[in-house]
Amino acid sequence: MKNLIACILILGFFSPCICQRWNLVGTKKNTFNVMEYGARGDGKSDDSHAFLSAWKSTCAAKGAATLVIPPQKKFLVTNLLFSGPCKATSIHIKIQGKIIAPPKKSWKSGLGWIRIQYVNGLTIDGTGGGIDGYGSTWWSCISCLRPIVLSFHSCNDLSVRKLKITNSPGGHIAINGCYGAKFSNVVIDSPAHSPNTDGFDISASKNIVIEDSTIQAGDDCIALNGGSSYINVTRVFCGPGHGISIGSLGKHNSHEIVEEVYVRNCSFIDTTNGARIKTFPGGSGYARKIIFEQIQLKNVYNPIIIDQHYGSQVATNSALQVNDVTYRGFNGTCAGDIAIDLDCMDCFNIVLDQINIVSSQKRNKVSAICKNFHGKIDDSVVPKVSCK
Ligand SMILES: *[C@@H]1O[C@H](CO)[C@@H](O)[C@H](O)[C@H]1NC(C)=O
Ligand SMILES: *[C@@H]1O[C@H](CO)[C@@H](O)[C@H](O)[C@H]1NC(C)=O
Ligand SMILES: *[C@@H]1O[C@H](CO)[C@@H](O)[C@H](O)[C@H]1NC(C)=O
Repeated sequence: MKNLIACILILGFFSPCICQRWNLVGTKKNTFNVMEYGARGDGKSDDSHAFLSAWKSTCAAKGAATLVIPPQKKFLVTNLLFSGPCKATSIHIKIQGKIIAPPKKSWKSGLGWIRIQYVNGLTIDGTGGGIDGYGSTWWSCISCLRPIVLSFHSCNDLSVRKLKITNSPGGHIAINGCYGAKFSNVVIDSPAHSPNTDGFDISASKNIVIEDSTIQAGDDCIALNGGSSYINVTRVFCGPGHGISIGSLGKHNSHEIVEEVYVRNCSFIDTTNGARIKTFPGGSGYARKIIFEQIQLKNVYNPIIIDQHYGSQVATNSALQVNDVTYRGFNGTCAGDIAIDLDCMDCFNIVLDQINIVSSQKRNKVSAICKNFHGKIDDSVVPKVSCK
């Protein structure tokens, strides 16, 4: 008997260490399945509460933790806020089932649908699952503040892969205040007529990679807003959509900066724009050190466009500077009349090289516009550009 008590005491003393060891090696104990928190996954019941409870446990776990949204189920959720900072050193969210939004009439308030903030070392893997925003119930209301499907705020070392987002009411993915994020094999799919459904909206963020992804949307495939730097976009298919846009910058005379942007080996198919830089007159700051290269175009309305009179033709004497921008290796067809539109106010060291853009309509010819331009345009560029 004495031995037994001693044994229990000793076990009691050591077991917390054993549990902790298990947590560290990622046993089932550190995996949190929304079903165990009361989610129904029937596509009708509101599973938000279960998701939030499962998130709380995941975030509070020791070591590496995993949140599982299991396959073969549909989870209806309303506004979700997954907030850190977390005790878990890294978090893996596995979206294996479908997450669906309620129709517009059943929405609670809020601009964001699924928001994640102050979480470092987060990985989201959407293999087998997906997120659908039921945007068709929103798109007819142009004046509504239509929610963004997935927003990240202050998440460093973020990784999102194999995630599919469809039918967003507003933007699909917003990234704000994040340092270090990689999005790969992301599929975004909303129709061309869906209003303001940007694929990615990036602001105040650094070291962001988007690669091997397909974006079909009703607005910009990717918009790089103020405070974005060291952004790499590689092997992205865009279309339908409004292209990859720097800006718009400088709205309401604001001071904004975008720099070190590298867009490489991307395709634009049936988009309104390809490589676009748009700034409002009256702003300050700059868009600089930007490279667009190895770009395939098919039936793109404005393949290359710098618009420094965005939103207004009013003459002002200040403008954001657009500097050190290279367009190299553009091939393909243009749906409009102007393949290259360099409507500058203040742009320097702009380089165009290895460009061959022809009309997608038989018998049509495309041309170029160039104003207040400072830079170098290779003689081989088609269509010919003559600057005033
Ligand atoms: C972006 O691409 C450039 C050129 O390949 C590379 O030097 C840089 O490290 C990349 N940045 C990120 C954040 O991956
Ligand atoms: C460009 O991307 C395509 C896939 O989108 C790939 O097959 C091809 O190898 C890439 N080319 C280069 C030169 O990186
Ligand atoms: C672009 O077209 C030129 C010929 O006009 C060709 O040599 C080159 O390989 C093409 N580049 C791409 C990236 O398709």
